[in-house]
Amino acid sequence: MTKVLFVCLGNICRSPMAEAVFRHQVKEAGLDSQIEIDSAGTGDWHVGERPHKGTLAKMEEHGISTEGMYARQITPRDGKHYDYIVAMDDSNMNNMLCVFGDTKATVLRMLDVIDDELTEVPDPYYTGDFEQTYDLVRRASIALLEKIKREQAIV
Ligand code: 4NP
Repeated sequence: MTKVLFVCLGNICRSPMAEAVFRHQVKEAGLDSQIEIDSAGTGDWHVGERPHKGTLAKMEEHGISTEGMYARQITPRDGKHYDYIVAMDDSNMNNMLCVFGDTKATVLRMLDVIDDELTEVPDPYYTGDFEQTYDLVRRASIALLEKIKREQAIV
């Protein structure tokens, strides 16, 4: 089982969207029994909450399930459990590395896997642009799945 964790700040906008989109793609590829997926935030303000209504609306628009998703905060244990830990921006990356310390996981930024002028997923909590987030997350998820299949020899 390959384990993948998406991390943002609040775990209500970007990383839940990445979790839902990636899970949808993994399921469509018939690989859901081989890849475990979750998301978490570096902050604790929204722990226990459902994703932001902008994320929920975007997922509904595209027929992507968010069932059972509630915000949680990263823990040191995540750094040991997951094989791939994917941060939405540089600040998430720095903060999560402080919490995880030494980790054997492959740690990367969401947009590292695609060619785009952006290197960080803009935060729609502030921009209000959930469509931009969805477009970036969708494209990066496709590339991330290809990378993981290649590296883990998943067919
Ligand atoms: P996210 O967006 O990190 O993509 O979930 C945010 C959600 C909440 C806050 C900041 C960013 N907040 O400050 O409450």
